Parts: sequence; C-alpha cells; structure tokens
Amino acid sequence: MKLEGKIAVVTGGAKGIGGEICKAFAKEGAIVIAADMGDLSYEEKNVFGYKLNVADPVGCKTFFDEIIAKFGRIDILVNNAGITRDSMTYKMTDEAWDLVLNVNLKGVFNLVRYVGPQMEQIGGGAIVSISSVVGIFGNIGQANYAASKAGIIGLTMTWAKEFARKGVPVRVNAIAPGYVLTDILKTVPEDLLKQFAGLTMLKRLGQPEEIAKAAVFLCSDDASYITGQTINVNGGMRL
Ligand SMILES: NC(=O)c1ccc[n+]([C@@H]2O[C@H](COP(=O)([O-])OP(=O)(O)OC[C@H]3O[C@@H](n4cnc5c(N)ncnc54)[C@H](O)[C@@H]3O)[C@@H](O)[C@H]2O)c1
Repeated sequence: MKLEGKIAVVTGGAKGIGGEICKAFAKEGAIVIAADMGDLSYEEKNVFGYKLNVADPVGCKTFFDEIIAKFGRIDILVNNAGITRDSMTYKMTDEAWDLVLNVNLKGVFNLVRYVGPQMEQIGGGAIVSISSVVGIFGNIGQANYAASKAGIIGLTMTWAKEFARKGVPVRVNAIAPGYVLTDILKTVPEDLLKQFAGLTMLKRLGQPEEIAKAAVFLCSDDASYITGQTINVNGGMRL
C-alpha cells in the first residue's frame, strides 16, 4: 500500500472530492482525519470525522494541537475545503469576497502555518492543496473564487521553497481540477455544464475519484521528486 501507516488530514473531507480523497487514502493504508464543518456522508474504516471551520484561525490551532496530541504527527495534509459565492464583480458583496477568500485561501494558511514546520521537525511530509482550472484561466462571475484558487498556486510554490530550505523533504503541490461532479456544481446551470464538458478533450466532466487518484500519487513516494507543482486534472480543458 502506498500510504501505509501515514497520518493524513484532509479538510472538507466529509463529501465530494475530499470524501473520495479520504477513502482512497484509507484504502492505501493511511489513518485519515476528515476535518469538516459537516458530518461525514460515508463510513470508511480508518477515516475519522473532526469538526473544523478552516476559516477560524483559533479553531485551526486547537485542531492541530489536538491531532498532534492524539495521533503524534501529521505526515500528509490535503487542503481541500472550498466554497463558491458567485456573482459578477460589479454585484459582488464584501461578504461574498471575504467569505470565499477566508475559507479557500486563508483557510489553507491557517493550517499550513503549523503543519509545515511540524513536517520539517519530523523529517518530511506531503502537502497538497486543491486549486482549480478557474485559478489558472479565470472565469466570468468568479472573481473571488479565481483569486483564491490562483493564490493557492502562489502559496504552493512559496511553501515548496520555504519548507525544503533545511534539506528536509517536505513536498508541497497543488491539484487544479476541471469541473468535477459534486455538490459544488449544484448552482451551475445544466447547459453551462454541458458547455464545460465540451471544452475538454475527453468531452466529459470529471469524477471526484479521478482527483483522489492524483492526490494519492502526489502524497506517496511515487511523487518523491515532485514539489512546487500544480497538476492539472481536467480532461484537457481550456476555459
Ligand atoms: N467540483 C468541482 O468542479 C471543483 C473543481 C475545481 C476545484 N474544486 C475544489 O475542490 C474542493 C472540493 O470541492 P467539492 O467539489 O468536493 O465541493 P463539495 O461542496 O462537495 O465539498 C466541499 C466540502 O468542504 C466542506 N467545507 C466547506 N467550507 C468549509 C470550512 N470553512 N471548513 C471546513 N470544511 C468546509 C463542506 O462541508 C464540504 O464537505 C474545493 O476546494 C473546490 O473549490 C472543485
């Protein structure tokens, strides 16, 4: 198994892409902490649900301390929790801007600021953050979301440098999925989804399991020489 004995934290792990990542990690031998505001939508041996709002800095510190006290260390962190609050820029409220940036971008910082140095101390680790095709190409009506997902790419390159500077193999990468069939697409009209499928080379939308496979790869020793990268998993999409 590729992740035998690893302690993994996956934010937003209660369902969707995060849920599939948790299940895939557990099947590869990891002990998985699914940190989410909601309850787990599935049952899987060795996946444990923890209540966490990643946008709450104090809650993230408490969560980190609790996980270290209970499990001893964190070998893998997947920053997956994310939300959308779409509108054209001229109509976008401060609340919609702040909420999306606080969850999707600051929420990543809130945990990595503790987990990254801890990985340096224990001699290595893997961090993967879920960006988006929208963070690379932009998208009409998603200024807040695009900014948060592009920010993740900058953080990924920064942390790949920062946490490797002592010669310890802490690898930091991102995955930029295309459109993947989960609840987050509930608000996107059907005809637009068809259009997005048509923009891919494979002419279909993605499945959350297909993102999970990339996360397993990036967090395993198979990716031992990959860091600072954003991997596109989007069926060959261009927005
Ligand atoms: N589905 C797609 O098409 C797609 C495409 C590109 C990127 N993404 C990204 O993938 C990630 C997962 O998305 P999904 O499609 O599985 O969405 P989803 O809505 O199905 O699941 C998101 C999960 O995150 C949790 N969450 C939301 N806010 C949180 C918070 N503040 N703290 C902790 N947990 C929180 C939710 O409770 C939920 O369980 C997101 O970052 C999203 O932006 C999704």
